[in-house]
Amino acid sequence: MCGIVAYIGGQNATPIIVNGLKKLEYRGYDSAGVAVLQNGKIEVRRDAGKIARLEALIAEQPLSGSIGIGHTRWATHGAPNQQNAHPHLSSNGEIVIVHNGIVENYLSLRDELLAEGAVFHSETDTETIVFLIERYFAVTQDLAKAVQLTMKRVKGAHGIVVMSAKEPDKLLAARLGNAGGVAIGRGNGEMFIASDLPAIVEHTREITFLENGQMAVVTRQGVSIQTLDGQKVPAQIQHIPWDPVSAEKGNYRHFMQKEIHEQVRSLSDTMIGRIDFDDYRITLPDLRLDAAGARGIKRIFITACGTALHAGLVGKIIIEHLTRIPVEVMVASEFRYIDPIVDSDTVVLAISQSGETADTLAAMEEGRRKGAKLWSIVNAIGSQAMRSADGAIAMQVGPEIGVASTKAFTAPLVDLYMLAVYLADLRGNINPAKRFELIRDLLMVPTLAGKTLEHEPEVEKAAAKYKDMRSVLYLGRGINMPIAYEGALKLKEISYIHAEGYPAGEMKHGPIALIDQDLPVVVIAPKDAWYEKMISQVEQAKARGGKVIAVATEGDALIPTLVDEVLWVPPVPWLLSPILTSIPLQLFAYHIATQLGLDVDQPRNLAKSVTVE
Ligand code: AGP
Repeated sequence: MCGIVAYIGGQNATPIIVNGLKKLEYRGYDSAGVAVLQNGKIEVRRDAGKIARLEALIAEQPLSGSIGIGHTRWATHGAPNQQNAHPHLSSNGEIVIVHNGIVENYLSLRDELLAEGAVFHSETDTETIVFLIERYFAVTQDLAKAVQLTMKRVKGAHGIVVMSAKEPDKLLAARLGNAGGVAIGRGNGEMFIASDLPAIVEHTREITFLENGQMAVVTRQGVSIQTLDGQKVPAQIQHIPWDPVSAEKGNYRHFMQKEIHEQVRSLSDTMIGRIDFDDYRITLPDLRLDAAGARGIKRIFITACGTALHAGLVGKIIIEHLTRIPVEVMVASEFRYIDPIVDSDTVVLAISQSGETADTLAAMEEGRRKGAKLWSIVNAIGSQAMRSADGAIAMQVGPEIGVASTKAFTAPLVDLYMLAVYLADLRGNINPAKRFELIRDLLMVPTLAGKTLEHEPEVEKAAAKYKDMRSVLYLGRGINMPIAYEGALKLKEISYIHAEGYPAGEMKHGPIALIDQDLPVVVIAPKDAWYEKMISQVEQAKARGGKVIAVATEGDALIPTLVDEVLWVPPVPWLLSPILTSIPLQLFAYHIATQLGLDVDQPRNLAKSVTVE
């Protein structure tokens, strides 16, 4: 959840770290800080609030040195204030740390350190780590050994970077469990470390990722990796193809707005290299699957959190329809606690934008433990969910910065559709004519997304009418039922308006009691097999005085006569309709939140990558 950036080289570390932190502000933004080794002494600047506050502080009290570490925080232990902001110093001021994760045994460690006379200056769990490193350094006079000994004492999942005035020519980074990534980038006589690639891709694309249980000793000349038991491990270097410009806002007011509009491109980017146009076939080589393997799959468990879970709910319908393989969708935070029926004929398919969501990674581990094959659909290249899977589908949509996921929702819908067509083809569920038709339909989607976005001015007007509502009900049916969940999630997370998504047929079993002139109902009612049933829901809501906003198919003459507002989408085959119906709901949430003057890209209490359980 927190963001980490560090630098060692020949330049002034401070602006490099601060600029990197700005790129990670979407991860955590309640406080931030930097520590630099300046004339042999560790100097720290940190404050509550956003990076702009930190920059103002550095302008008043400049910091300069060629090695440093920085952090942007998402509070877990202690309020977001100056004392709790990272970096945290050891008692003697000679060692400093930035940390991502939770020390699960911090209370007992704190008691142990207090008994030895330690004086804590914050309420964070992180101080226990730096105090332990200080203690072990006093004995070993070796920073790497001190970090290794410390990591053996702390429970939980962690990513840390440590700097010491005693060993001024190196940074140490360590990873334990799944508290987010640690990426180490090579430059020319300089090295960069970050929890997430957007912080450093403008400087380097040659990246080594730390695995669970590894530590890196990073000097100006390079990196050496060892396990936390001191065993040397060769450093694998990956080339990252991202365009750094895609992590900039451009002419858009917010990243979220940019990412909504980028969908015309991201929907086709996610297809690149996956469609064989010679014989109209889907190819997903990174799944490493053949016909026998595809026929051997008896069940698929999709596991994910939040928006990614909603993509999975749509994916279930597509995969079951085209392949007849039974698909279950399970909230990742529950997966390992309910003993799901998973065996070697099962595929556990994780969906994750960040690829570092702790619950999703834990669900994958549980799948592995039970002998399943692991697949993932992931956006962040090199993330843990991509590396630990047996097969993966990269979303290929570039970094998503807005905390509310948009392009990383519609891309996996395309990926799940391609997966379903691919499996159906390998298993012999579809003939070439059907395959051609399914792929031809898919290829139309980016253009249709563009047409949907042309309706933005009408959506903006509707948002102005409804921005003061207190609560909203979203209803969908069939393949658009998950879009009701997703529409409601988008609205609540950025506008703080209460919203609930419901299967439309469930309205009469309870939520109908809420409907009156003050509870607008959003119905997702494209022209599909469920259209007439959705019209009945509209009638039921109107009969109780409810205001109705409908997402409907262009050319539908009936619906405007029944509802208060229509958000139009172009006609599209039903298996692909959620990709389009979700777009006006993204725009609706976005415009409501901006009209309320809220911070759309960094909504309160949230973080882009949820690396705690
Ligand atoms: C999306 O708008 C949310 N911020 C959130 O639900 C997110 O989708 C969820 O935390 C899962 O993240 P992941 O895709 O990175 O695993």
